Amino acid sequence: MADSPWWQGAALYQLYVRSWHDSDGDGYGDIRGILERLDYLSWLGIDGVWLSPTMPSPDEDWGYDVSDYTSVHPELGTLADLDALIAAGTERGIRVLLDLVPNHTSSAHPWFVDARTARDSAHRDYYVWADPAPDGGPPNNWLDATGQPAWQWEPATGQYYLHNFLAGQPDLNWWEPAVHAEFRRILDFWFDRGVAGFRIDVAHGLYKDAELRDNPPLQANHGELDGRYGLQPVYNANRPQTHDIYRDWRQIAGSYAPPRLLLGETWVPDAGRLASYYGSNDELQLAFNFPFAFAEFSEAGLRDVISKTLAALPFGACPVWMASNHDIGRFPSRWCAEDKPRIRLALLLLLTLPGTTVLYYGDEIGMADVLVLPDLQRDAMTKGAAGKRGNRDRARTPMRWDGSASAGFTAAGVVPWLPLPDVSEPDVAEQRGDTSSTLWFCKQLIDLRHTELGGGVADFELLPGPAGLLAYRVGDIVVGLNLSAEQQRMPTGAGRQLLATTGAASADPAALGPSHGKIARWLPALG
Ligand code: GLC
Ligand code: MG
Repeated sequence: MADSPWWQGAALYQLYVRSWHDSDGDGYGDIRGILERLDYLSWLGIDGVWLSPTMPSPDEDWGYDVSDYTSVHPELGTLADLDALIAAGTERGIRVLLDLVPNHTSSAHPWFVDARTARDSAHRDYYVWADPAPDGGPPNNWLDATGQPAWQWEPATGQYYLHNFLAGQPDLNWWEPAVHAEFRRILDFWFDRGVAGFRIDVAHGLYKDAELRDNPPLQANHGELDGRYGLQPVYNANRPQTHDIYRDWRQIAGSYAPPRLLLGETWVPDAGRLASYYGSNDELQLAFNFPFAFAEFSEAGLRDVISKTLAALPFGACPVWMASNHDIGRFPSRWCAEDKPRIRLALLLLLTLPGTTVLYYGDEIGMADVLVLPDLQRDAMTKGAAGKRGNRDRARTPMRWDGSASAGFTAAGVVPWLPLPDVSEPDVAEQRGDTSSTLWFCKQLIDLRHTELGGGVADFELLPGPAGLLAYRVGDIVVGLNLSAEQQRMPTGAGRQLLATTGAASADPAALGPSHGKIARWLPALG
């Protein structure tokens, strides 16, 4: 479709800047490092990159605690470097999205530094302040991301301030009109520089209940996404007023040519609530599908979440498929138990579904989570955490570019900020030299996505099939994924094979071994 937006059918790439490529040998990846390796992304066929936070920050939460919204973190580069990256990206058809953090700032942000000085300071109302409860304790039962009370006592002014994440990340008060004005200015600042859009951090957060009511308890048998620490996030997030912000920002994004993209981190448990962030196609153009990422990697689990997603989204909206990120870990570990055929099966799924696919750096080489020992952990929010989500550093370790001691990530002899994956792990150089590698498979999928799949939801249909076989038709392509341990067959109607997880074409083109998948031409006459 000539008039469909560039992100429909696109393959985006989440690039964790500190861990991708270090150009100056300080052990931290940086923007010039991205420039040096940009041709790799262009070879892979990537349409756009989302850079993890690039703005100045004391790094209590690695850039998710912003102290200046219109500049670049000195450790990562300069505004000129970012301009150069945008220009180099434009030449290669790679758009650059930044991470925007509007739910909270750093406590080192000048707004908060001023706000905490006095109750009548100019920026006091930029943040959420409250008097103690009658017993002197926190104003309500809200808990922060570590499970501690979400309120920090400030003796200087005799009130608590709200922080849904760390105490160094005070929540902004979106009931204050000046906060809206500040962010409109920030949006324009970056859009004017040619930034293609934003990934919006904690997009379901922003407004908080005006009465600061207590959150209700979690139901028994709750899902991973329903809440944590025994509470449902009913009043400290997911407030209806947040939608007004996105209607406003959508107008701003739409006033640019080409329109700028708003991609939300919408951490919600179901497709209905996910769909609400698209509004009537007048809010976010894209919203991350966490129910998909947390679905069971099985035919039944995937069929359920895919059909619910497509049924819930407004007509014409573009779904978003991703399975790894810097918080939830990597799918080769979570979904695939590091089994190579299943990793390829997951890539086949991610890159043939309609809408927008977001790969996390390393997905393309099948990079797994890396065990980071407690002494080397850098994430304050999850330090020492065990359990399902665990320590987030496991998915933030440097990219393995080659088999050398520095992995091609940094200069020889430099200790990277997080440990490198083991030398036995897959690396880019080795896989680029082997056309049967996962990297090549991923590249071929992206090429096929561009040439054969329009990305439109209207062209997509889940096909009925036996348990364990997930099959769908996209335009005149049919995809079959065998998620079972038994032999399966491609659906009737599948013609010439275009790509298979095994690489080689098998003697029987319709055969699908356990954990294998194929893409074939759809021949309706056979169906
Ligand atoms: C989002 C980010 C996460 C960060 C949090 C607070 O969930 O993805 O990394 O810690 O917001 O900004
Ligand atoms: Mg560096």
